[in-house]
Amino acid sequence: MSIISKDISKAISLLTKEQLVAIPTETVYGLAGNIYSEKAIKAIFETKKRPFFNPLIVHISSADLLSSIVDHIPEKAQLLADAFWPGPITLVLKKKTSIPDLITAGKDTVAVRVPNHLTTLKLLKALSFPLAAPSANPFSSISPTTAKHVEDYFKNEIKMVLDGGSCKSGIESTIIGFESDNPIIYRLGSTPIEAIEAIVGKIEIKNKKEVAPDAPGMLERHYAPKTKTVLTHNVLEALKLYKNKRVGLITFQSAIENSYIEVQITLSQTGDLKESASKLYDVLHQLDKKNLDVIIAEKLPNYGLGKSINDRLNRATKG
Ligand code: TXA
Ligand code: MG
Repeated sequence: MSIISKDISKAISLLTKEQLVAIPTETVYGLAGNIYSEKAIKAIFETKKRPFFNPLIVHISSADLLSSIVDHIPEKAQLLADAFWPGPITLVLKKKTSIPDLITAGKDTVAVRVPNHLTTLKLLKALSFPLAAPSANPFSSISPTTAKHVEDYFKNEIKMVLDGGSCKSGIESTIIGFESDNPIIYRLGSTPIEAIEAIVGKIEIKNKKEVAPDAPGMLERHYAPKTKTVLTHNVLEALKLYKNKRVGLITFQSAIENSYIEVQITLSQTGDLKESASKLYDVLHQLDKKNLDVIIAEKLPNYGLGKSINDRLNRATKG
């Protein structure tokens, strides 16, 4: 029997009983539980096989609730919340003591966002507690952008995926931390860096492969297919290296004519970065099922969402 359902009251009932429910957001599906339930939070880590040092994002229904989660809201954090929430930006701020250490991996900061998805906003409004929700995939594997992706991962582990269709943005939220009240990008994501800079001015991107990263989404190998993946500026050159192999090819805008290629998917025939982001993970899920020797991905233009997509593809190549 399928665990996919549109029944919000069932989701409310399960979450209230400290169970997990996978929830839709505009970015990717999340594996959600009550932030104040130790049982639920432990189950999130166990289900994902996620190390406890990797903290979770707290999801709230409105920016007004931010002050109940964090102690101090820098001016630029408020500007970003006002500009982008509900939407794919996560703010990392000093936590209130009431926020459990399990959520924050013992850090004194907590990651918070208001997701832009009607079903999940409705769910959050009906609950008396916020939801912790990491992406609903086993640690290091490709994030889910459809209810079916989640079901394929966790049908034996969880009771319900709340169906909210396929995720419109398709890659995770952009994470912003603060140092001396100044914003820093911890993880590139669905809100383009240029849009953020238009609100708060020039912003630095911090760290890529520290051992104990500020945001383990920055761990080098993450978001990865099981199939060997290669990222290239020059698809024709890369194809030469895999002549007698079963190749899956992801191109940005234009397909390549080559009879060796087993499967080829073009992200956006109009060269639209938003469309490309929304399709990326589904394409990786599809290709990863085809027993290919290699997935070759064409690098996208390195601005706007292209920069975030390249970041994810680059991590997918780290074996
Ligand atoms: O779009 C998203 O952000 C999705 C949806 C479900 O909301 N969630 C998501 O969660 O991507 P997750 O757990 O896969 O990634 C959360 C990232 C991790 O890289 C984690 O290290 C970082 O947020 N993070 C959480 N709390 C943090 C903190 N206090 N300081 C620094 N990084 C933090
Ligand atoms: Mg994740």
